[in-house]
Amino acid sequence: MKHIISIRDYSKDDLMRIIDRARSMETERHRYGKLLDGKIIGTLFFEPSTRTRLSFEAAAHRLGASVIGFADPTITSVSKGETLKDTIKILNGYADILVMRHPQAGSAAEAASVSVVPLINGGDGTNEHPTQTMVDLYTIHKNLGKLDGLSIGFVGDLKFGRTVHSLSFALSLFNIKLYFISPDSLRMPGKYLKELDEKKIFYEQTDDLEKIMPQLDVLYVTRVQKERFLDPKDYEHVKGSYVINKAMIAKGKKTLKILHPLPRVDELHHELDDLPQSIYFQQAHNGIPVRMALLSMVSGALK
Ligand code: CP
Repeated sequence: MKHIISIRDYSKDDLMRIIDRARSMETERHRYGKLLDGKIIGTLFFEPSTRTRLSFEAAAHRLGASVIGFADPTITSVSKGETLKDTIKILNGYADILVMRHPQAGSAAEAASVSVVPLINGGDGTNEHPTQTMVDLYTIHKNLGKLDGLSIGFVGDLKFGRTVHSLSFALSLFNIKLYFISPDSLRMPGKYLKELDEKKIFYEQTDDLEKIMPQLDVLYVTRVQKERFLDPKDYEHVKGSYVINKAMIAKGKKTLKILHPLPRVDELHHELDDLPQSIYFQQAHNGIPVRMALLSMVSGALK
């Protein structure tokens, strides 16, 4: 596949192939140091990012590629009114692969429609974050040895959380039970639930994390996305709805794994960080092998 725009473009086999490739990138890194020698990766970040941009850039360097790009669109000609499509057409002459994050849902597909080089969606508004999903799947598989047969709970901002939207779809390709835990106003949008209904995936919606906790193999925690609220009063009303602490985790399975795409605000108490259940920092580090795998695949250097 040339571009990476939506997780919906991937089958279960595709995702397992990416996991296998990422494992090889992690365990046999020495084999790939010159794979993208001479290539240039362009990172176009119209929205803030730490993990996605820097892990893509580190992955590019690990493969021997060079990196150009911006993390602040106000220093580019976008601030003079240049369109997204024109920006992409220009970058097509400068880079061999583009990675883009943009606040507008659908912007990745719009950019890909004019891009002759592979374009990777690093998050488009509230829509999708497909490469984060691949990192999440890799992390779950690496730690629990499987993706089938698991019970996964999503807690927090399920309305605006693009990582939840992409990951719940990807998990629906597996034999899985999903639990959506949120305040009423931050529930999963109906269009994503409809997809699960069509595939006859078991899911439950609740605001009661304590009740669900003992059943979970994975607890996927998300930040309430302050920047997506039109009215700040609505954010004030739901912020801090869930603050996960040790007492809550003690009610879960010993083998529970806690993931979070990060950044966190106050939803994961810092006292959790040293628990064996907490794998969110490892999850962020897994961004390197997974994004090395993706760059190697879209470049055509590896199948
Ligand atoms: N998980 C994630 O997308 O983090 P950043 O916003 O820091 O890229």
